[in-house]
Amino acid sequence: MDRLSILRLTLHDRLVGHLVGYRSGKNLLLFAEEFAWDPVRPTLSLITHPRFPKSAELLKRDWARHHGVHPLLSNLLPEGALRELLAQSLKTHIDHEFELLAWLGRDLPGALVATPLAPEDVPKTLLHRLAFEDSADIEQIQPIDLASKFSLAGIQMKFSMKEQDGRYNLAQGGTGSADVDLGDWIIKTPSTRHAQVPLNEYSAMTLAAIAGIDIPDIRLVELDQLENLPPINLPLEKQAFAIRRFDRRHYQGGIERVHMEDFAQVLVKYPREKYGAANYEQIGRILYQYSGDGIADVQQFARRILVNILLANGDAHLKNWSLLYSDRVTPRLSPAYDILTTRAYIDGERSFALNLADNKDWYRASMDSFRRWSDKSGIPWRLIKPHLDDTLDMARTRWPEALQQQPMLERHKDALKAHWQQLHPDFRIRRG
Ligand SMILES: Nc1ncnc2c1ncn2[C@@H]1O[C@H](COP(=O)(O)OP(=O)(O)O)[C@@H](O)[C@H]1O
Ligand SMILES: [Mg+2]
Repeated sequence: MDRLSILRLTLHDRLVGHLVGYRSGKNLLLFAEEFAWDPVRPTLSLITHPRFPKSAELLKRDWARHHGVHPLLSNLLPEGALRELLAQSLKTHIDHEFELLAWLGRDLPGALVATPLAPEDVPKTLLHRLAFEDSADIEQIQPIDLASKFSLAGIQMKFSMKEQDGRYNLAQGGTGSADVDLGDWIIKTPSTRHAQVPLNEYSAMTLAAIAGIDIPDIRLVELDQLENLPPINLPLEKQAFAIRRFDRRHYQGGIERVHMEDFAQVLVKYPREKYGAANYEQIGRILYQYSGDGIADVQQFARRILVNILLANGDAHLKNWSLLYSDRVTPRLSPAYDILTTRAYIDGERSFALNLADNKDWYRASMDSFRRWSDKSGIPWRLIKPHLDDTLDMARTRWPEALQQQPMLERHKDALKAHWQQLHPDFRIRRG
């Protein structure tokens, strides 16, 4: 018999179901009946929302995967160097997603909590569903006392930290009974590959906010304000980029989780599919149809796509857009994150991440591309056009001067200003 381990999945202390991981690598996500039948259940993913046409049917099925975990869960894990660092310190392989999830389960992005189950705690109904007589073949994944946890998704080195009096402490991931240890800031440390990414991101996010983009609090913090960072390679740069987590909220003296999911999760795609598997029409259509305020969210979404073009950010892929479930049930477009001038690092870069009206080339995008995007998304153009005009107006009148005041490296500013001259006349911005 193939041995297995089980994780209990909860959302806001409600049982969602169990993830069963077999030694062979196969794993099954089984929803609890009490979750599946509850018409006012908290939303785990848009496809499980009671209003989603097939949700009842989907929740009755076993979600099986033969390697790695389901995209809904896989997208909660770090990618790249961060995953390697984690796998190394856990002495496991980067492909052992079930184990990574077991160890990071108390501090995942959003509000899902995964807890390793002891064999004696496995519910009888679950044993039956798995066709087991008893729990003899079940192993518990031993919780490891990680000195540091870094369960954030994404590529760049980043840490969830808790701020107190201007110092930042690595979050311990809610190891205690309460969740007072959860981090409320994401700290992105400087890159050893690209110069001054934190200054770039801080500057680009600031310009985005000026053009009407909704962003969380951001700061630049000195590296010596960061306590107990794990041993990582750092370049000779002094500052990190800090952004307040919108999936954590201060509440009665502690910090509580707010659920979120990125659009790779919404569309059931793996992280590796984040560039190719969808387009901006699909995101627009979903926001318009399912958001608690579809009109406001597609207006904000259109502004953001335009700002990404204007700021030469080629990285607005599926994982850089999220839904936030502040009331536990209803999706809204989350605040913006991960906006930076990627053209500063990639010579000759000229494309955004996903298709907009069948085009990925910044310099071919025009107002007409957005009109076609809105048509294809089923969104009335008259709802969108004034927001694009306003975004452009702000960018043209305020950015040239605002850019001068930003900490971004001069050569990166020059790359951005050169980009502005190359844009379609509809979007061109005069030099400051
Ligand atoms: N302010 C925030 N609040 C909550 N989650 C965030 C915030 N910023 C980023 N995230 C989450 O962390 C992930 C990684 O952050 P991101 O800035 O995209 O880093 P990277 O440059 O590595 O892609 C995002 O995909 C998102 O899930
Ligand atoms: Mg990202």
